[in-house]
Amino acid sequence: MSDNTVLRLDGVSKSYGTVQAVDRASLEVRRGEVFTLLGPSGCGKTTTLRLVAGLDDPDAGEITLRGRVVASVSRRLFVPPHKRNLGMVFQSYAIWPHMTVFDNVAYPLRLRGVRGRAMRERVERVLELVGLGGLERRSATLLSGGQMQRLALCRALVYEPDLLLLDEPFSNLDAKLREQMRVELKLLQRRLGITVLFVTHDQIEALSLSNRIAVMDRGRAEQIGSPRSLYEAPASAFVRDFLGQTVILTGEVESPGTEMVAVRMDGALDGHRLVGRAAPGSPLARGVKAHVAIRPEDIEVTSSDGSGSDGNTLPGLVEALLFVGDRYEARVALGGEQRILLFLGRGREWREGQRLTLRLPPEVLSVWPA
Ligand SMILES: Nc1ncnc2c1ncn2[C@@H]1O[C@H](COP(=O)(O)OP(=O)(O)OP(=O)(O)O)[C@@H](O)[C@H]1O
Ligand SMILES: [Mg+2]
Repeated sequence: MSDNTVLRLDGVSKSYGTVQAVDRASLEVRRGEVFTLLGPSGCGKTTTLRLVAGLDDPDAGEITLRGRVVASVSRRLFVPPHKRNLGMVFQSYAIWPHMTVFDNVAYPLRLRGVRGRAMRERVERVLELVGLGGLERRSATLLSGGQMQRLALCRALVYEPDLLLLDEPFSNLDAKLREQMRVELKLLQRRLGITVLFVTHDQIEALSLSNRIAVMDRGRAEQIGSPRSLYEAPASAFVRDFLGQTVILTGEVESPGTEMVAVRMDGALDGHRLVGRAAPGSPLARGVKAHVAIRPEDIEVTSSDGSGSDGNTLPGLVEALLFVGDRYEARVALGGEQRILLFLGRGREWREGQRLTLRLPPEVLSVWPA
């Protein structure tokens, strides 16, 4: 383990009865990064966080914090939560309603024996950092949702934890406030240089906040990487479909290859041929069914007269056109059968009933086993 590793999970498992909540999860969180566990409901995100926090003990594996083993099944070792120096903000951030803003933040310090002026200064500094300066004497119940959220963050930050655990901390906020908190958390995290293990099932939140993401499925980290690498080079169909929108077309492999694969489309697009990158995994044989996948924003609308059909293109027909201010959202029919949603710029005139030629550049098209 390098000096830069704050948290390390080694083959950690946890089951509840017959449910395998976490299944041999292994990962490393480095100092100063925001590392996010992203995955569908029930995939084991909260359980993983609870194991790190010491609110639950693993059935197998080992958890190391800052080079110190805090949970190990084989060594029969378990360090309780209050000795792990972690900050935690969970979905239902429990601020103490009977206390003032100041006392809410001071409480964790008092617990740790910090008192007097040193305590006051630290509380004031952290409240200032998140924009709650001046509200010290206010009762915690008289704060807005966003302010309560920030107060919960303060309480977790004030004793400078080695690692901050955040479990869907913005899920109680409305969409606008969520966006605002996302930016604020990012700025705060950078300013303080804190290490964060973040849990969400919201992909925008994950993509925008994280240095690295582990996409989880059924208790396992399916793929770990930077937001861009996961988005642009997913290692499995699960990761591909979980992150962002994907247009998927079906066909049959015409000429296989380890780098590029040509696929003959079927159904209403029969006769069209698309070349794309071979997805990770075992190579596809000639004649097998394949999925051709592309992000909608990577589709180029090359001409608006519907002519020309070579060079990785498909014909499209604008069925419905919605002007949404900054762009058009168009429902486009491909060969009459499949419909996709495309965003079209305001720079050109579009109309319903218009025929389009869609180019699907080979370098951003990937070919998967169906
Ligand atoms: N205390 C428990 N007793 C029994 N089953 C549990 C317990 N805690 C979690 N589980 C089960 O373990 C699995 C993983 O749960 P977990 O809460 O970790 O999921 P999650 O990824 O956080 O989901 P969500 O996005 O809905 O919060 C689920 O099937 C859940 O029902
Ligand atoms: Mg959860």
